[in-house]
Amino acid sequence: MAYSQNPVTVTITGAGGQIGYALLFRIASGQMLGADVPVRLRLLEIPQGVKAAEGAALELQDAAFPLLHGVDVTDDATAAFDGVNIAMLVGARPRGPGMERADLLAANGGIFGPQGAAINAGAADDVRVVVVGNPANTNALIASAHAPDVPAARFTALTRLDHNRALGQLSAALDAPVGGIRNVTIWGNHSATQYPDVSHATLDGRAVPTLLAERFGGADGAAHWLSEQFIPRVAKRGAEIIEVRGSSSVASAASAAIDHVRDWVGAGSQPGDAGWTSVALPSDGSYGVPEGLISSFPVESVDGQLRIVQGLSIDEFSRARIDASVAELVSERDAVRALGLL
Ligand code: NAD
Ligand code: LMR
Repeated sequence: MAYSQNPVTVTITGAGGQIGYALLFRIASGQMLGADVPVRLRLLEIPQGVKAAEGAALELQDAAFPLLHGVDVTDDATAAFDGVNIAMLVGARPRGPGMERADLLAANGGIFGPQGAAINAGAADDVRVVVVGNPANTNALIASAHAPDVPAARFTALTRLDHNRALGQLSAALDAPVGGIRNVTIWGNHSATQYPDVSHATLDGRAVPTLLAERFGGADGAAHWLSEQFIPRVAKRGAEIIEVRGSSSVASAASAAIDHVRDWVGAGSQPGDAGWTSVALPSDGSYGVPEGLISSFPVESVDGQLRIVQGLSIDEFSRARIDASVAELVSERDAVRALGLL
């Protein structure tokens, strides 16, 4: 699937924020949709964020990107999503002091419900949505529930950052570039319960579990490294970044969002992109994940459509971890349902 030469409309919410700033210039330069695809950017912000987004728009003009066919800044969701082809929902309500999880879900419901409705009202027929703002899976579920005319499969949430983090950790452990690693999977929620699964992964065609056993002195050593080091490191990497940097991941999150959309629309691959990737999308019941839940799976993009990779064997260890993360997603869904947000 490839876009024609007509400008593609990309709407970024929270465009005045950190991730927005890291995204805009890469999209405008052609790194997301291809070096020959013109883009039109719509920057949606809340009124307090409009100035920052306007500043970014001025800088986009100054960067003189040949592919950039216009930038609009608005605080009106209806205008922002009118005719949108790609919606990147980054702006979200962060957890504040004293806020309970239910408060956070409710606050984000107040954002993602209306944005879903605006997408439903005005988006282009081919709209694709990626939710970055946390809690990303459940925010995507809320947005989708408010967009009954848009196929649910067009609503995804970002777990590509977790996927890329897993590649980075494996690369370091096996002392090999990420480009040779294939078929890592992130299952479940973009949260600390996620399950980064390397049981089907390969490095330059060799099974990663075998290589880990060689590296860590046998199968038990590899299992210990996976459960005590790799899985928690990947699953809690967001918190590690916050602790070390003093604020949450920005450039790596933007880079992952670019990877997510680029692979979805089939805008060319880069080293390391062969094999499957991880995307949180509505379950069709595959691998025992309740239908409709937006959960991360091993995913391939075929002709611009995301397909869950089928037929993978799931061992007992993986089953328990997938089930735990899915249980968290079910509880988030039940909580937003109880709040009347679905
Ligand atoms: P930020 O605070 O720098 O920017 C967020 C921006 O969103 C702000 O400018 C704010 O004004 C805007 N905003 C808030 N509500 C909005 C609304 N209703 N409509 C439009 N804009 C709105 O935060 P950031 O560092 O850019 O992170 C954004 C989100 O991404 C956070 O929720 C963060 O937790 C999440 N995140 C997700 C991942 C992931 O892998 N899924 C990774 C990193 C960060
Ligand atoms: C991340 O994975 O880096 C973020 O989702 C962390 C966060 O809480 O913003």
